[in-house]
Amino acid sequence: MTSTVPEQLISQIRPAIRGRSPYIVGGDSQAPDVKLNQNESPFDLPEDLKKEILESFLDIPFNRYPREHPYDLIRALSDTLNHPPEGILVGNGSNELTYTIGLCLINPGAPVVLPTPMFSLYKKVILLYDGIPISIAPKPDLHVDLDALHEAIGLHSPSLTIITTPNNPTGLSVPFDAIESLLKESPGFLLVDEAYVEFTSQRSALALMDQYPNLLILRTFSKAFGLAGMRIGYLLGHPSVIQELLKSRLPFVVDPLAETVALALMRKPEIIASRVQEIIEERDALINALKKLPDVKVIPSDANFLLLKTPVAPAILMKKLTRNGVLVRNMEGYPELAGYLRVNAGSKDENKVFLRALEDTMYSNS
Ligand SMILES: Cc1ncc(COP(=O)(O)O)c(C=O)c1O
Repeated sequence: MTSTVPEQLISQIRPAIRGRSPYIVGGDSQAPDVKLNQNESPFDLPEDLKKEILESFLDIPFNRYPREHPYDLIRALSDTLNHPPEGILVGNGSNELTYTIGLCLINPGAPVVLPTPMFSLYKKVILLYDGIPISIAPKPDLHVDLDALHEAIGLHSPSLTIITTPNNPTGLSVPFDAIESLLKESPGFLLVDEAYVEFTSQRSALALMDQYPNLLILRTFSKAFGLAGMRIGYLLGHPSVIQELLKSRLPFVVDPLAETVALALMRKPEIIASRVQEIIEERDALINALKKLPDVKVIPSDANFLLLKTPVAPAILMKKLTRNGVLVRNMEGYPELAGYLRVNAGSKDENKVFLRALEDTMYSNS
């Protein structure tokens, strides 16, 4: 293989692609003792359920294409959520569905309104489709500036506005009533990413679906369901809207093995409920413990993670924590979050190790 590729050839790739950076989580590639940097669930599936699922894998013919879309999972979601199956798209993780949203709703040069700081994928997707991100800075307490958001919607009449609630990376929610007024105001679609909805006591926007056909809700099996490795997410919308978006979809995107796992877990809602409860308790315990540490600022969170700021620079703190086998996330890539780290709630033991490592690194000079 030649070692160089002519620049002329590389320049054939769309500038919108060349201008982006690859998504890299960062952190140590060695398996850490305590991994709290990707808002994952600390709980894998129970061993007996895994074995049961493995048994059912044997019934899947590996030589055959699956059905175009995972209809069994769509039906199960429809029954659980009381939302018509025609109004559900299932994707290879919810991230994958954001590309469909970009493909269908972002025209080149069109404004897309979104509050910041927000899960970085959204800005990337807007730019990949040559849209113009209209970023709305947060209030000093990091909550979404709803007045500024309304103003931007009025000014730009965007075909797409995006909010995530609870928001990653702040952990703060947009109140239900505020979502409704955004829906009323928006001439285009409002995408509400509810990746962390199971961890909050705020009402889901799903209750607004019947009244507002411009509402799209994105959800995932990666967080509360603990299936980040299986790659399953879903988009909810008005059936007429979803059936239009469906026209852009590749068939066979969702792996039948992943569908089998998601279905098996949906049949055991008690497992998820008790784990969500435990994660919420651990998150709150973590917040309380951090609040007690001198000079540590914690942002209260509705999600399974939280933001914290210490007098030590995040890069230095990260390095020291990593040396102790603890992975957290440096948030300095977000201009609004200079000085912040993000950590997700792990198991009780993991949180203990994290807190001890944090205290050691903050209050020791080595
Ligand atoms: C707001 C938000 N949406 C979606 C995702 C990812 O979802 P998935 O694993 O389903 O692609 C994340 C993951 O961190 C997230 O923070």
